Amino acid sequence: MQSYLQTVEDVYEQAAISPDATLCCTDSPVWRLPDLVIPPIMLQMNYGCGSTVTPRDLKGDDTILYVGVGGGLEALQFAYFSRRPGGVIAVDSVAAMRDKAAANFIEAARLNPWFHPGFVQILDGNALKLPVPANSVSVAAQNCLFNVFQADDLTQALSEIFRVLKPGGFFATSDPITPAALPETFRRDEIARARCLSGCLTFNEYIETLTSIGFGRVEVRSRTPYRYVTPTEYPGLDRAVLLESVEVLAYKVPDSADGPAVFTGRSAIYAGSNETLTDEMGNVLRRGIPVAVSDAAAMRLGERRDVIVTPSTYHAKGGCC
Ligand SMILES: C[S@@+](CC[C@H](N)C(=O)[O-])C[C@H]1O[C@@H](n2cnc3c(N)ncnc32)[C@H](O)[C@@H]1O
Repeated sequence: MQSYLQTVEDVYEQAAISPDATLCCTDSPVWRLPDLVIPPIMLQMNYGCGSTVTPRDLKGDDTILYVGVGGGLEALQFAYFSRRPGGVIAVDSVAAMRDKAAANFIEAARLNPWFHPGFVQILDGNALKLPVPANSVSVAAQNCLFNVFQADDLTQALSEIFRVLKPGGFFATSDPITPAALPETFRRDEIARARCLSGCLTFNEYIETLTSIGFGRVEVRSRTPYRYVTPTEYPGLDRAVLLESVEVLAYKVPDSADGPAVFTGRSAIYAGSNETLTDEMGNVLRRGIPVAVSDAAAMRLGERRDVIVTPSTYHAKGGCC
């Protein structure tokens, strides 16, 4: 019997040969940026669940590792920012997908005078054993691949990302998640797993998996509806489930004084009578001014009568503590 990983590769080999607009979330919006023209074939081959391209976090000198290139849509968008040979390294284990992405980058160069196919170096490699040296990239990204991995393989894939990231670098990741654990019968459906449906973790599992690898700071950028799946389509389900898509940045930095700093879009506001409040960790809050805080800091500060803590928006964009 072939392994589930081979089934995944077979599904994406087929999706490279015959683009499948029903695979993953093909209508997730793409970045509109000046002078960026996305070839239609890349839009047809948008096999992602969200976006991992975060313009506000990218610097011109970043080296970006992209795992699971697909049709090249996001690698092209990253190259928009790096704009130099090898600025983006795209790894994929499926030969047909690498070939298709290479052809799509030639088309992208025809439509975008600023772009050269050499701006994305395509490598034959596996997410479980990345062909990239330790501490060599400032940004790593994956979109809708890691959710297909079973627990041990997911740990391995994330450990590889952590290994290749430079200290201080970040991992941009997007995957579907489930509101509650999915039934085992559905989880065993390898085709549904390969199509980014049955391997989903819950939100808490997703975040805890990242922090357990060592990412000391995690920012949840977005949570949006992804797919409504029913027992009629998938008999392994015992009920209909609305899957979500999550976008997260995970930083290779040490934990904060409160432990891993998970930002879900919460703010703390000092509402006391002094000008400022200095909390027990040394953070200074000015009266009436919201400060983005991690969930751990929100819990700690929420115990005070003179601090108001707001709920998670799931649109975190950094934060102090
Ligand atoms: C769901 S698609 C996502 C493609 C792309 N990230 C996007 O957003 O359109 C998964 C991609 O990962 C590749 N892939 C599958 N298994 C892999 C593995 N073990 N290591 C690296 N790439 C893999 C597939 O060939 C495919 O390009």
